[in-house]
This record gives sequence, structure tokens and C-alpha cells, in this order.
Amino acid sequence: MEGSMAFRFGVVLVASAFLLNSGYANTVDSDDGATLLEIKKSFRDVDNVLYDWTDSPSSDYCVWRGITCDNVTFNIVALNLSGLNLDGEISPAIGNLKSLVTIDLKENRLSGQIPDEIGDCSSLQSLYVFKHTQKKVN
Ligand SMILES: *[C@@H]1O[C@H](CO)[C@@H](O)[C@H](O)[C@H]1NC(C)=O
Ligand SMILES: *[C@@H]1O[C@H](CO)[C@@H](O)[C@H](O)[C@H]1NC(C)=O
Repeated sequence: MEGSMAFRFGVVLVASAFLLNSGYANTVDSDDGATLLEIKKSFRDVDNVLYDWTDSPSSDYCVWRGITCDNVTFNIVALNLSGLNLDGEISPAIGNLKSLVTIDLKENRLSGQIPDEIGDCSSLQSLYVFKHTQKKVN
């Protein structure tokens, strides 16, 4: 009897250690969270729409505005910041988000180049940045 209690306690401990670990994996302390904060820095967030992108250690970036994570791996699979009146530039740090499948930044007022580093997003299937920059034709 006592043995099986100890066993169950052990299982609970292992399970909660696992939960703590996976929780840790998608907070801002991980690389992807830090990358998002880096990306935020190069935007000028006029309307403060990215207020929940914070470096609070308990903040889970999978619920941040515009972020979609994979259900299983918690990798960031979509970044959708369309129509949020963002100014500024697209950070080269975006190339660190290698699991991105979709990037939608259209209908903002971003300027500058689409960084070459976006080529590092090897899973990328859709990239919407048109209207992001007024191309100088003359
Ligand atoms: C997450 O799981 C839900 C329910 O199973 C599914 O409908 C949804 O498409 C999944 N999302 C992703 C990003 O895999
Ligand atoms: C991004 O979000 C906007 C607004 O919710 C939506 O209309 C658009 O279809 C989304 N883009 C993609 C690529 O899913």
C-alpha cells in the first residue's frame, strides 16, 4: 500500500516536472520569445497593439497578439500582424523563426526592405507584405 502511494507520488512529480518544462519552453525566456521581442523593437507600434508582447518571464508568447503556435510542438507557425497600423521596419531577426509557415504584415505602414534573413524561414509558404512599402518607381 505504502509502496503504491510512493509510486503514484513519483508519477505526479514527473508529470508536473514535465508540465513546468513545457511551460518554460514557450515563455519569453526561450529563443523564440526573445526573437519576437527583437522583432517588436524594429516596429513602431503607434497604437500599442503589441502591448501583450512583454518580457515578463511568465508571459506565453503563443497567446500574444498575432501569434499562432503549433498545437504539439509549440513552435511559432504564423505571424499575422496585418492592418495594425505598424510603422517601422521588419527585423532581420524574423529569420530565427524557422517554423513560420505564414507571415502576414500587409496593410501596415512598414518601410525598408524585406530582410534577406526571411529566407531562413524554411517552412514558409505564405508571405504577405504587399502595401507594406511604397515602392519608388521613378
Ligand atoms: C490545433 O488543434 C485543433 C483541434 O484539434 C485544430 O482544429 C487546429 O487546426 C490545430 N491547430 C494547429 C495550428 O495545428
Ligand atoms: C490575418 O488576420 C486578418 C485579420 O484577422 C485576416 O483577415 C487575414 O486573413 C489573416 N491572414 C492570414 C494569412 O491568415
